[in-house]
Amino acid sequence: GKPVRLALLGCGTVGAEVVRLLHEQAGDLTARIGAPLELVGIAVRRPGRQRGDLPVDRALFTTDALGLIKRDDVDVVIEVVGGIEPARTWIVEALRAGKSVITANKALLAEDGGTLHDAAADGGADLYYEASVAGAIPLLRPLRESLHGDRITRVTGIVNGTTNYILSSMDTTGAGFTEALEEATELGYAEADPTADVEGFDAAAKAAILASLAFHSRVTAADVFREGMTGVTAGDVASAKEMGCTIKLLCLAERGPDSRGAESVSVRVHPAMIPRSHPLASVGDAFNAVFVEAEAAGQLMFYGRGAGGTPTASAVLGDVVAAARNRLAGTRAPSESVYAHLPIRPIGEA
Ligand code: NDP
Ligand code: HSE
Repeated sequence: GKPVRLALLGCGTVGAEVVRLLHEQAGDLTARIGAPLELVGIAVRRPGRQRGDLPVDRALFTTDALGLIKRDDVDVVIEVVGGIEPARTWIVEALRAGKSVITANKALLAEDGGTLHDAAADGGADLYYEASVAGAIPLLRPLRESLHGDRITRVTGIVNGTTNYILSSMDTTGAGFTEALEEATELGYAEADPTADVEGFDAAAKAAILASLAFHSRVTAADVFREGMTGVTAGDVASAKEMGCTIKLLCLAERGPDSRGAESVSVRVHPAMIPRSHPLASVGDAFNAVFVEAEAAGQLMFYGRGAGGTPTASAVLGDVVAAARNRLAGTRAPSESVYAHLPIRPIGEA
């Protein structure tokens, strides 16, 4: 069949692995989609930069992201640059032009997801973002599809790989914070500015995305109570250990009656001491784990690699297949269902 044409914005830790998987899995992807995928351009900041043995024609690199997005032959835009601007302008432009967009940009989704969803509605286009929360773990699709007949009451878990790597290293090997953060950065887990990881901004963004989907409400990063893990000392980790506990950076999003009995949402991110017998205590390295509690389903647990180029690219590729299939079939991805408009419980209120 006619190829589905892709534009890639960003070719760093995640983007390079997307390129590699598109190349290595080309035959399987064509068979699954029923048409070949064709990468027509890659926007980066430094097109002349050495990119190892990346299996790609160097002529595809450009600094003109907007020009690439506007090309008539581009069907699907993959944004793996990060940050608020210019990513927001690019995504809005692509969606308004009717292109499918795939993004891993949780910071943007949590700060201004409404603008992206409005642009998608304007352009009759689909926005996919499975890679934005918990890396390789299929989590957003189950929340927005499989669990759609149920009522989710709580989402709890570890959603930042970098801080989990640091806290696990401090606990198991006695590594210092700085050394462990350097390792996490080296392994491709940390954000471009790791303050986002260690101060809890990244986990708060993911918590906002999870709460929005779980509770059919619009929750932004500003609604999330946030305390990072920079205040956790080696002494705290050792004391927790003596008490048979470990320290994890947890995210908690729940719906329920507030102190006045009104149905509302509460979302928070903070370090917590948990007993070693708890399943979350054994989540090490940059792994993530998320518990979802729903009225009919009961408790579900999602576990896997939450950060890193290849695991994240796996989630991006899943979205690429979905987008390509939907375009070829003339069908649409499930849209966001924002109908509950639940009030957010003021920070500090039970
Ligand atoms: P990197 O910093 O490794 O890569 C960023 C890429 O964007 C680089 O290729 C860079 O170009 C390009 N870029 C930066 N600014 C511009 C610009 N103004 N114009 C054009 N290109 C630009 O980031 P990651 O791959 O780690 O992350 C990308 C996104 O994925 C972020 O939103 C991040 O939050 C998200 N994410 C990352 C995960 C991870 O484990 N790393 C996991 C899940 C999500 P150049 O190569 O020339 O420098
Ligand atoms: N910096 C993020 C983390 C990447 O460490 O979890 C995955 O979203």
